[in-house]
Amino acid sequence: MDFVLPERYRTGIDELDRQHEVLLRLGERCLDRDLSAQQQLELLRFLVQYAQAHFETEEFAMDLFGFPGAEAHKRDHALLRAQLDQRGHLASTRRMSAPAEHQATALLRRWITQHVLGADAELARFLSGPRPMAA
Ligand SMILES: [Fe+2]
Ligand SMILES: [Fe+2]
Repeated sequence: MDFVLPERYRTGIDELDRQHEVLLRLGERCLDRDLSAQQQLELLRFLVQYAQAHFETEEFAMDLFGFPGAEAHKRDHALLRAQLDQRGHLASTRRMSAPAEHQATALLRRWITQHVLGADAELARFLSGPRPMAA
C-alpha cells in the first residue's frame, strides 16, 4: 500500500518531508500484524537506524543555520533515541507478548508523529524563514 505523508505533517522542506514520510511509513509497517516476529524485528532495526540518520540531518541543519531552539530539539531527539534503542533491545530479547510489542510500537510511533508535528514544524518554519546573511 502506498503511504503518502498527510498534509498536516508536511514541513515544506522537501528533504525533511521525504525522510518523515519514510519514518512514518516504517512505523506503519512495524504495526502490520501479518509480519512474522523476525520481520518485525528487522523492520524495527531499520526504523531505529533510519531515525538516527534523520535526527543527524536535522541537527546538522540546526547547527549550520544557528537554530535558537537547537538545545531543546536535540534533547527531544536524545529522548526519542533512547526510546528507540530500548524498543529495539526489548524486541530483540523477545521478552514481551505480541500484544505488548504492538502497543509499545504504537506508542513509539505516536511519539515520533508528535515530534514531527511540534518540534520539527518549528524547525522547518525557522529554516524556511528569512535569516541574516553571514558576513
Ligand atoms: Fe526533530
Ligand atoms: Fe524529524
